[in-house]
Parts: sequence; C-alpha cells; structure tokens
Amino acid sequence: MTNRELPWEAYFRRVMFQPHCPLIELAASLNTEHPHVAIDCGCGTGSAIAYLAGRGYQVHAFDAHDKAVQACTERFLGNPKVNISEATFENYTYPSANLVIANSSLFFCEPTAFDAVWNRIATALAIGGIFCGDFMGDKDSWAGDPTRTQTVMTSDRVAMLFSQFDILKWVERDELGMTALGQSKHWHTFTVVARKLSQ
Ligand SMILES: C[S@@+](CC[C@H](N)C(=O)[O-])C[C@H]1O[C@@H](n2cnc3c(N)ncnc32)[C@H](O)[C@@H]1O
Repeated sequence: MTNRELPWEAYFRRVMFQPHCPLIELAASLNTEHPHVAIDCGCGTGSAIAYLAGRGYQVHAFDAHDKAVQACTERFLGNPKVNISEATFENYTYPSANLVIANSSLFFCEPTAFDAVWNRIATALAIGGIFCGDFMGDKDSWAGDPTRTQTVMTSDRVAMLFSQFDILKWVERDELGMTALGQSKHWHTFTVVARKLSQ
C-alpha cells in the first residue's frame, strides 16, 4: 500500500467541516509580520484555510490529493484570499510567507526528500515568521510500517530542525488514542510552534 491508497477519501468526508486546530489561533496571533501571508502544507479539506482567510491572511494552500484540492476549491470558490494548488511537499513551489502551517501533514513526506522539503519551508518563511506543525515520533504505531511512506523523527532531530528558531511551544504526545476514522493506535508526535530568528 502506498500513501495514495490510504483511506483519504473516507478521512476527508469525516473531517470535512471539523474546526481548525486551536494552536493555529496561537500561531496566527504570534505572527507580527505584515502583510499576513500563510502557507498551509497538506491542507486537507481546509479548516486552517477557513480560519486564516477569515482573519485576513492571504493563504497559499496545497495538498497532494485531488479530492482535498477539489473540496477546498469548492469551499473557497471566489475568495481572493485563498490560492489552492494540487502539489506535494516535494514539488510545491513555496512562496514567501510569514506563517507556515503543517498540521498532521509532514508525517507523510517522502523520508528521502524531507531535508530538502524542510529547507524549502524554512527558506520560504520570513525572519520573524511563525511555523506551526506536527512531526511523527519514532514510537508511533505507524513508524516503521513498510506499507506507508512516512518521515519519522526522534525528538533530537525535530529540535535540530529548529536550530535557527525560537521554540515557543513544544508538545510531545505519547499515548494510546484514536484516529479520525475510529481506529485505536499509539500516537507519538511532536507539535511545534516556533519563530524563525535567522536565515
Ligand atoms: C491528516 S491530513 C491533515 C489535513 C489538514 N492539515 C488538517 O489538519 O485537517 C494529512 C494531509 O496531508 C496530505 N498529504 C499526504 N501526503 C502528502 C504529500 N506528499 N504532499 C502534500 N500533501 C500530502 C493528505 O492528502 C492529507 O490531506
């Protein structure tokens, strides 16, 4: 099974109008750079886009899955604040931004491409801008599953990504929990909100 074959359509139906992650509000309020421009990496059905565009952000969002892109295109039709692309972490052309969101999405980056992807994300983010996103930890049930393409991180590796950032929030989740589709699994994730200090 590849990531394209994961049950994304069932997932998108389940989360279609779920509220945005509350940390996005924190990240958006910590961003003091203007004009507000955000990138939403792996945007799914657009909960973060809706919140950010409603707050006046220009939002560039992309997702690898055509059904997610279709849902967002319909949801934000005619909204000049929203620009949706069908693209992957690996082939997206990252515009300059002062907020980058990657909510539960960079888990699915091709591991051999991750360092180059991260370099592009960090370069696109303005000095003073905010990153808010999640990384998959090495104790997660999905880590090491050969049927999935995933980038799995130790906490040291996540910390290294932020050597040029001021980490404002760091949450490690290490517990049994449920997926959006109601399956039990062990979650091991790192959620980081951080301000870029230098190039
Ligand atoms: C768990 S969902 C999270 C969606 C959204 N960020 C949210 O919080 O609701 C992960 C998203 O990443 C997308 N995705 C998976 N692999 C990707 C890739 N290589 N490039 C871009 N998006 C990808 C999926 O299509 C899916 O929409």
